Amino acid sequence: MSKIAFVTGASTGLGHELAKQLVAAGYDVALVARRLPLLEDLKKELDPLGQRVLVLQADVSSWDEIMSAVDRTEKELGPIDLLIANAGVSLDAPLKRFNAAEARRVYEVNVIGLMQTVAAVLPYFMERKRGHIVGVSSLAAYISVPRSTVYCSSKAAVSSYLEGLRVELMPLKIKVTTVCPGFVRTPMTQKNKFKMPFLLDAPDAVRIMMRGIEAKKTMIHFPSSLAMIVKGLRLIPAPIFRQILLRLRPG
Ligand SMILES: NC(=O)c1ccc[n+]([C@@H]2O[C@H](COP(=O)([O-])OP(=O)(O)OC[C@H]3O[C@@H](n4cnc5c(N)ncnc54)[C@H](OP(=O)(O)O)[C@@H]3O)[C@@H](O)[C@H]2O)c1
Repeated sequence: MSKIAFVTGASTGLGHELAKQLVAAGYDVALVARRLPLLEDLKKELDPLGQRVLVLQADVSSWDEIMSAVDRTEKELGPIDLLIANAGVSLDAPLKRFNAAEARRVYEVNVIGLMQTVAAVLPYFMERKRGHIVGVSSLAAYISVPRSTVYCSSKAAVSSYLEGLRVELMPLKIKVTTVCPGFVRTPMTQKNKFKMPFLLDAPDAVRIMMRGIEAKKTMIHFPSSLAMIVKGLRLIPAPIFRQILLRLRPG
C-alpha cells in the first residue's frame, strides 16, 4: 500500500516539486493551496503516474479550511503518514514602509498557518501513535537580515515551534523534521533584486529535502556551503557580525 503525504503550498515552487517527487517515490498525495486551477493542472500531470492525487483548496490561515482539508484527506485517501507544512509567504520591505497588515499576513501564513496545519493532523497521528511532521522553515531563521526582518523572524518562530513540538511528541514516537533551505529558484525568490548566493533550482533542492525526509532526519539544512557560512557567521563577535549584515543588505 502506498504511503499518504499531505503537502501545503503545492501550487508552485518547492511544494509543487515536492508533489512530483513524492508521487515518483510512490506516495499518494493530498495537495493544498489557495489557487485551485494550478493544483488541478498539477493533478493532470501526475495522474498518469498511477498514484492517487487529491487536490484541496484551502488557506492555511483559516482553521476551518485546513481542518476540513485534513479530514477530507483521511476520509478519501486514508491515514496520512507524512505532513509537509510548506506553505509560506515572504516580505521584503524597508522599515520606513512598515505595514502592519502585511506583517500580520506573513505571521498568519508562516507561523499560525503552519501551527494550524500541524494541529489539524496531530489528533490523527496521536491516535495512531505514528506519523512524520515536516515543517519548512529557512536558513533565514538563523540570521535576521535588514529589510527581511518580518520574514526572518517568522521563520525563527517556526524553527522554535518545531523544536518544542519535537520534544513534546517524542514519547508518542511522532517524528518532527525542520527543513531550512537557503535560496531556491521559485516564484518567491523571482522578485528578489539582491544577489542570492548558492541559488539552487527547485528540483535539486527537493531532491535534498526528499533524501532527508526519507531518512527521517531531525534537521535538513541546505545547501551545505551556505548553511556552514550562516552557522559560522553566528560565531563571530556580534558587532562585527552586524557590520557585515549592514554591508550585505543596507536597509
Ligand atoms: N525559495 C526559497 O529560496 C526559500 C528559502 C527558504 C525557505 N523557503 C520556504 O519554502 C516554502 C515554499 O516557498 P517557495 O519558495 O516554494 O514559494 P512559492 O513558490 O511562492 O510557493 C508558496 C506556496 O505557498 C502557498 N501559499 C501561500 N500562502 C498560502 C495560504 N495562505 N494558504 C495556503 N497556501 C498558501 C502558495 O499557494 P497559493 O498562493 O496558491 O495559496 C504556494 O503554493 C515557504 O515556506 C518558504 O518560506 C523558500
